[in-house]
Amino acid sequence: VYTVHKTDHGVWMVNLGDKLVAISTTCTHLGCIPNWLSNDNKFKCPCHGSGFQVTGMNFEGPAPRPLERHGIYLDGEIVVVDKSKKFRQELNQWGLDGSEITI
Ligand code: FES
Repeated sequence: VYTVHKTDHGVWMVNLGDKLVAISTTCTHLGCIPNWLSNDNKFKCPCHGSGFQVTGMNFEGPAPRPLERHGIYLDGEIVVVDKSKKFRQELNQWGLDGSEITI
């Protein structure tokens, strides 16, 4: 999990081993900004305790759905994140074209 763009762009760049995804830093409960806890290998929201796996899947606390993913693609060797696009797991949108980069 690369946290360098959390504050300035509201996105975590996450290497899931076979793919790179851009996960939104907005909690799907009430919109707080979770933290990446590398020792626990999870995102944890400080507001009401929602927890999300590295993939963005919710697994504890009140968040009703996974973190959203933004559009991502390669422009030559440059990774571009398109925040105008959102991919939601509960709508079966993860894995659609433009939602991840195969690595
Ligand atoms: Fe994140 Fe409530 S806003 S748990």
